[in-house]
Amino acid sequence: MAVAPNLIAAVDEARQWRRLMEMAELGAIPGPTPEDRGVNRPCLSALDRVARRKLIGWATELGLSVATDELGNLFLRHEGSDPGAAPVLTGSHMDSQPNGGRFDGIWGVLAGLEAVQAIREAGITTRHPIEVVAWTNEEGGRFAPGCMGSMAWSGFQPPTAWDSVTDPEGITFRAALDEHLAAEADLPRRPLGAYRPHAYVEAHIEQGPRLESGGLDIGIVTGIQGSRWFTVEIRGKTDHAGTTPLGQRQDAVQDMVRAITALNALMHDPKDVLRFTVGKVEVFPNASNTVADLARFSIDFRHPQAEVLLQRGDAIPGVIQAALRDCTATVTERFHALPVTFQPEVPDAVERAARAQGLGALRLPSGAFHDAQFMVPLCPTGMIFVPCRGGVSHHPSEYSTPEQLAKGTRVLAAALVELAK
Ligand code: GLV
Ligand code: MN
Ligand code: MN
Ligand code: MN
Repeated sequence: MAVAPNLIAAVDEARQWRRLMEMAELGAIPGPTPEDRGVNRPCLSALDRVARRKLIGWATELGLSVATDELGNLFLRHEGSDPGAAPVLTGSHMDSQPNGGRFDGIWGVLAGLEAVQAIREAGITTRHPIEVVAWTNEEGGRFAPGCMGSMAWSGFQPPTAWDSVTDPEGITFRAALDEHLAAEADLPRRPLGAYRPHAYVEAHIEQGPRLESGGLDIGIVTGIQGSRWFTVEIRGKTDHAGTTPLGQRQDAVQDMVRAITALNALMHDPKDVLRFTVGKVEVFPNASNTVADLARFSIDFRHPQAEVLLQRGDAIPGVIQAALRDCTATVTERFHALPVTFQPEVPDAVERAARAQGLGALRLPSGAFHDAQFMVPLCPTGMIFVPCRGGVSHHPSEYSTPEQLAKGTRVLAAALVELAK
């Protein structure tokens, strides 16, 4: 595949970096060095809306049209020569982890904008329109689970599925979404899943060490492992720590420890492929001299094989029940996404775009989940990874260089031109 040299030249490394750094000011977390500054920008927050207005400003300046939908997904449209042709969709998310970095998600959105700007400046016409999307709540940091926007848009879940989910302040997802939609009532609103994309391609930092350690520029993503999220609540009885004999307690913390120990045994994997994380623990009333009557913890369980995900995931409630000594437990599943393998069209286009530019590229699966997962049933789908320092993400020290990011955007631009031609 020949890539137009004027397209490559039109991708502006400094402009993309400037926009990323401007976005990083919205929710900035100070760090020990400029490269270790993070971001906390929760979905559907006032900060999120400021970031979206900034993006909309850049897009309208460029001549793109803007639309949103009932989940707050945001679309920026560049026309093709055939207005009836299905759009090629690219993008990612603008929300961050609570203690997150400056690149996870937002780079995929700004790379889409930069690629479209380069295509326009290079005077390249495609038959298919190209749309840049910012999906609502990919991280699941404020409202669990993640990927709500893409799950609703693709029809994987109904748009009301998370109405009663609350954030740490007790605000429901429905209330936050309604407030958000009211604040953006001036934007044209489209139905969810307004079209079946011609193709979907998402750019993202790798969030793992393979590209960096291999000295490579581009990851050609082959698929995404499956994920299941659960919330476990263990209920006991609160008592005085100094007076209540151990044998008479219903201590929710002690039974939580038993449950997690049993889950570690269930999730043991000598090959170390399986991923099992208890990342969030809450204890009530959370006082050092009071026996806890409620312990709540999260389970994030991932595996690339559907059978393992189903068998071990389904065993979780029984293993917890069997491990309890004094308390009772409820287990609620919050997210269930089976592993996906991308069809060859998009990965092959990404590979051609990388090779044509002389970039070092590797095929690899994604351990993190992404909105791309939910596009797979709709259209040919793929992702482009770029290296990030030490493979670190979901942390303020997440970092990728302006040059690495620009290489990723050049591959995205070339792949979009091929997919939309
Ligand atoms: C989403 O960012 C994930 O946890 O993979
Ligand atoms: Mn992400
Ligand atoms: Mn993330
Ligand atoms: Mn993700």
